[in-house]
Amino acid sequence: MNTRVSSLFDLSGKTALVTGASSGIGHHFSHTLAAAGAQVILTARRIEQLEQAVTEIQTNGGSASWLKLDVTNQASVEAAFSNAMTQYSRIDIVINNAGIASGGNALDVTEKHWDDVISTNLKGAWLVAQQAGRCMSADGKGGSLINIASILGIRVMGGVAPYAAAKAGLDHLTRALAYEWARFDIRVNAIAPGYVVTDINRDYLNSPQGDKARKRIPQKRFGRPEHLDGAMLLLASGASSYMTGSTIVVDGGHLQSSM
Ligand code: NAI
Repeated sequence: MNTRVSSLFDLSGKTALVTGASSGIGHHFSHTLAAAGAQVILTARRIEQLEQAVTEIQTNGGSASWLKLDVTNQASVEAAFSNAMTQYSRIDIVINNAGIASGGNALDVTEKHWDDVISTNLKGAWLVAQQAGRCMSADGKGGSLINIASILGIRVMGGVAPYAAAKAGLDHLTRALAYEWARFDIRVNAIAPGYVVTDINRDYLNSPQGDKARKRIPQKRFGRPEHLDGAMLLLASGASSYMTGSTIVVDGGHLQSSM
């Protein structure tokens, strides 16, 4: 194969920071980034899981380290980015992935529940994006910020109002930051997954209600974290050097049918 084509998704020499890397999509992406050659900084609140994931990556020949980071706490986000910059000098890729689920009739949503969801899924993503932007613009080299949004930020269903509002906000934030930071060569894009089986939804997807949801997906199956690898590697690598402000939907066709 032609060298230019075979190295399109190569991340050798790049440093990538992943939030919410202790489980699910963030954990999986950390492995994928390392396999593509990046040095990966796994961040989350649960240190034991991070230590284990770092060991797994290193055992597979990859390069990884971990930092504690709570996306809802500005001081924690700033400290993690500052530590990462001290250790690696620059951050080329940030996967803005940490998030929590939300369920329940809108009439019953409490103020605390609303605050928790917005604080993690929108404000938390903003705090991470801002630090990413500051680090990537500091030396003029830019980078790639990838926000993990959701198809629920594009189209709605019942019982997810705070989550859908937060993800719609994140999707639009993607475009606002792409517009503002293009001058720094920072590309800001999003991935909007459909149902991907992880801790966030495993119980629901395995229930009879989940099975009904599966039948509404044109491909008639739920996604797995590895189904997002292609979109993530495209956005993380130079293969997408002329893409910014885009949202890539990876959902088995779910947006084309009823939710
Ligand atoms: P998950 O529950 O396995 O992973 C979420 C991660 O975020 C966990 O590691 C969790 O500890 C971390 N996290 C939560 N609050 C945090 C905080 N305050 N600070 C730092 N880390 C925190 O779930 P999954 O599915 O891997 O979710 C990852 C992202 O993908 C989320 O943003 C979610 O909304 C999004 N997503 C997931 C879909 C799915 O079907 N699994 C569909 C669409 C979007």
